Amino acid sequence: MTLRVVIAGASGYAGGEVARLLADHPEFGALTLTAHSHAGDSVASVHPHLASLASQSFEATTPEVLAGHDVVVLALPHGESGSLGETLVTSGDQRLLIDLGADRRLVDSTAWATFYGGVHHPPFVYGMPELPRHDGASQRERIAEASAIVAPGCNATAVTLAMAPLLAAGMIQVDDISAVLAVGSSGAGRSLRVDLLGAELLGSAKPYAVGGTHRHLPEIAQNLELASGSAVSVSMTPVLVPMSRGILATVSAKLASPQSAKKLHEALAGAYANEPFVRVMELGTFPATADVLGSNTIALGVAIDEAVNRVIVVAAMDNLVKGTAGAAVQSMNIALGLPEGMGLSVNGVAP
Ligand SMILES: NC(=O)c1ccc[n+]([C@@H]2O[C@H](COP(=O)([O-])OP(=O)(O)OC[C@H]3O[C@@H](n4cnc5c(N)ncnc54)[C@H](OP(=O)(O)O)[C@@H]3O)[C@@H](O)[C@H]2O)c1
Repeated sequence: MTLRVVIAGASGYAGGEVARLLADHPEFGALTLTAHSHAGDSVASVHPHLASLASQSFEATTPEVLAGHDVVVLALPHGESGSLGETLVTSGDQRLLIDLGADRRLVDSTAWATFYGGVHHPPFVYGMPELPRHDGASQRERIAEASAIVAPGCNATAVTLAMAPLLAAGMIQVDDISAVLAVGSSGAGRSLRVDLLGAELLGSAKPYAVGGTHRHLPEIAQNLELASGSAVSVSMTPVLVPMSRGILATVSAKLASPQSAKKLHEALAGAYANEPFVRVMELGTFPATADVLGSNTIALGVAIDEAVNRVIVVAAMDNLVKGTAGAAVQSMNIALGLPEGMGLSVNGVAP
């Protein structure tokens, strides 16, 4: 089968990364690429690295341009994809709709109002097949049956996959989880901002959304509550660091009862034993962002700090691949009945 795909917001970082992955995907034919201010511009002028798409131009992001495709990918600022998604769901024209933005992630409208504001749209199926659920349901099976999927947030993916199996196993306390994340600047998108200028960014590390205000917090709590079956408290502090891609999350939690590092490692490794894109490192080794760049892998390392009775899980991943575009392609494959890893690689690009 050759599927017709349109990527709305393909001039951005997330949409551009979906285009890069799908350009090499064996089941997809010609890609329609849309943009906003770059509508009419050549792909080569915006994404010079996408050689096979260089001769194409971006079309405008309108329902008319999006119509007539098997798969519609929305890679737009939140708010923009919410209303456009509503039109697409109503038309039912496409076989699969996948939104990379936040509009369809949160179940709780109060959390949406607090952290985002504006219209709260009904959530789509959450595109994280590896998420363990206390109710015994399989997130992967839900994705397989879905016609509308939302891709998880990048920071939310790192913190969730670091902690969810330990919560599901009852090995950590639910009310004392803390995460500090080193985040590359592409996580903020391609917009022109003073704090993202090279002169501001290079040679410095700067915290942002400090004090429980980061928008991924309610999404993380929602995920971890699905894993544990009870309310979960999480503190999160992201730090903007001078790298273009990547997230290194250091997540720690108080142990529910005394544990050995070996047992915690076994719990993580066991939970992800059949997950192609989650790599649990050998005990005593920890991942770096450079190990996973360009890949759809999230790598996890685990340790115990006996003096304070805490487990520490370090997670590394590429925010634009496993953190958004790769996760979207993974869910797309599942929903379309294709091999889950088609068009994706576990191997990174280094140095
Ligand atoms: N960057 C990441 O690491 C990451 C990770 C996970 C999820 N996401 C999500 O992916 C989505 C896109 O993020 P991004 O990082 O790719 O942002 P970005 O680089 O700023 O790209 C935004 C895209 O949306 C288009 N756009 C901007 N304003 C628009 C409007 N009013 N109407 C229609 N289109 C508009 C832009 O078009 P023009 O450039 O042509 O104006 C561009 O194609 C966001 O919802 C973000 O939360 C991003």
